[in-house]
Amino acid sequence: MAFKTLDDVAVAGKRVLLRADLNVPMHDGQISDLTRIERLTPTIRELSGKGAKVVVCSHFGRPKGKPVPAMSLAPVARALGLALERDVGFAPDCIGPAAADAIARMRPGDVLVLENTRFHPEEESNDPGFSARLGALADLYVNDAFSTAHRAHASTEGVAHVLPAYAGRLMQAELEALESALGAPIRPVAAVVAGAKISSKLGLLGNLVGRVELLVIGGAMANTFLAAQGRGIGRSLEEPDLHATARGILEQAAAAGCSLLLPDDAVVAPALQPGVPTQTVPIGAVPADAMILDIGPATVATIIARLRDMRTLVWNGPLGAFETAPFDAGTTALARAVAAATEAGALRSIAGGGDTVSALRHAGVLERLSYVSTAGGAFLEWMEGKSLPGVAALAA
Ligand code: 3PG
Repeated sequence: MAFKTLDDVAVAGKRVLLRADLNVPMHDGQISDLTRIERLTPTIRELSGKGAKVVVCSHFGRPKGKPVPAMSLAPVARALGLALERDVGFAPDCIGPAAADAIARMRPGDVLVLENTRFHPEEESNDPGFSARLGALADLYVNDAFSTAHRAHASTEGVAHVLPAYAGRLMQAELEALESALGAPIRPVAAVVAGAKISSKLGLLGNLVGRVELLVIGGAMANTFLAAQGRGIGRSLEEPDLHATARGILEQAAAAGCSLLLPDDAVVAPALQPGVPTQTVPIGAVPADAMILDIGPATVATIIARLRDMRTLVWNGPLGAFETAPFDAGTTALARAVAAATEAGALRSIAGGGDTVSALRHAGVLERLSYVSTAGGAFLEWMEGKSLPGVAALAA
């Protein structure tokens, strides 16, 4: 898809409404992960450096259309100021006089954060009047929030029809990385899809079997496939209602010439607890009272060997219960091998999704893959092959 970028516009002296994703994880009033803020700073620095008045808007949490003090963007604006090492203003509303007055006081190069767009119900209903009010605050719209592009909301979609619209540098990097992964990839392409549930990733599996040469399935999702094949999985987490669906995906893969790889061995334990006794067993020898909690070393070795023939990898989902040691071993070993293959120039690696980012950070390779998206739902919908409204609205 063609879209305009910051290379296509002169921003000096202009008021730029920058849609960011400042929906950062917060625990006990503290931001627990600054990645989204840090990744936004190049676009803000560029706009500010070129003399734009940078008016940042975003949602934060799910306040359901009314002001919720705990979901104010004020502390996030302060964190953005620290990341940018400069003053960042804050307006206590995203529309109306509070926003308009704060913007009127801005000088070229200034940065201002508007209060949570979701404090107004019209944001999520994509109300045209609300989009017009947002649009009236600025001369240009720049969307740098791929991770909210699956939402057709006023600040992600509606306002792109009100103002001249451009992709920010983060959005641009994201779209280029994703295009190189599934749009026009260097083949052969592998996908690793893992995590807890098939039910949340059905559309994605259906799309991938027709687009990749190798599909590796791990995590608890793999248990459903194994059980659907009649293999013993003990007391492992699975979705018995989806056995027929899992068999359907196996058939679809076979028909499409996609090689679907399931675990050959597993690390099992009586429960998901730190310090529990574990065993590594072949699939087929999982004790009746045990749970599969990670892929085993033979499976890790098989995946790494198969990836040697691949040129592109798309990865979503951890392969085991990585938050509890030692069930992080499979995901960490694969992550390190992928990082090494990427650095050797043998593989282009694109990963995304909330848990995936945590698992890659845990493995110490977050910066060593070709591209890691911080998008959760948007990354999954993109893997499903869906058109994302926030991206479609940027079409040049
Ligand atoms: C995210 O964190 O994935 C995005 O900010 C979207 O948030 P939402 O699921 O509340 O729309």
